[in-house]
Amino acid sequence: MFYHKSLIQQGWYIISVLLLDFTGAFSDPVRVTVKGFVGESAVFPCSIPDSEIQDKIEKFNVHWRDNEDKLVCDIIASNRTCTDQDPKYKFRVETFPDEYKKGNFSIKLNSLQKTDAREYICHITGPSQNHTITELHVEDGQHGRGNHRKPSSTMLFISFFLIAILMLS
Ligand SMILES: *[C@@H]1O[C@H](CO)[C@@H](O)[C@H](O)[C@H]1NC(C)=O
Ligand SMILES: *[C@@H]1O[C@H](CO)[C@@H](O)[C@H](O)[C@H]1NC(C)=O
Ligand SMILES: *[C@@H]1O[C@H](CO)[C@@H](O)[C@H](O)[C@H]1NC(C)=O
Repeated sequence: MFYHKSLIQQGWYIISVLLLDFTGAFSDPVRVTVKGFVGESAVFPCSIPDSEIQDKIEKFNVHWRDNEDKLVCDIIASNRTCTDQDPKYKFRVETFPDEYKKGNFSIKLNSLQKTDAREYICHITGPSQNHTITELHVEDGQHGRGNHRKPSSTMLFISFFLIAILMLS
């Protein structure tokens, strides 16, 4: 009898875990890779479907952390509250309040540095959830690449042509 009862309990446990998993509580995070350049910015995505928000926006909380669990930004009941934000993210994080009502809680990190290359974790909690991990890669900026650009062969040809004309005249 006891054995029978515990089997039923186990069954219920498995069903509830499956249900929780189905609603996203235990589901694997979405993994995204984003590339940015030194001095520029990068957008880290995190959203729930438009249809899930409706008029429940104040029921959603969004927590952005880095892989060292440092606070990047929080959006509580559609209000950005970056108190206790880690100093290295101060004045560098943009949120998009117009996008909240579409379920889009993406953030933008400005003035990228090489040391920003790491993982950023987003958790949306509320009537529906999201868990997204963005892996940021930071490469040397446009300026660096521009300075090292070699002149094209057409430009070299035109230059030699002009110099030849000048010397002949
Ligand atoms: C979670 O957010 C990511 C990034 O915006 C998106 O690709 C994914 O579809 C979202 N998952 C759910 C269940 O809404
Ligand atoms: C969010 O901001 C709105 C408008 O400024 C305010 O009415 C509301 O109380 C705030 N909610 C929280 C949880 O701070
Ligand atoms: C969410 O908002 C950001 C910032 O405006 C934008 O770059 C991104 O494309 C938006 N994502 C979706 C799924 O609309």
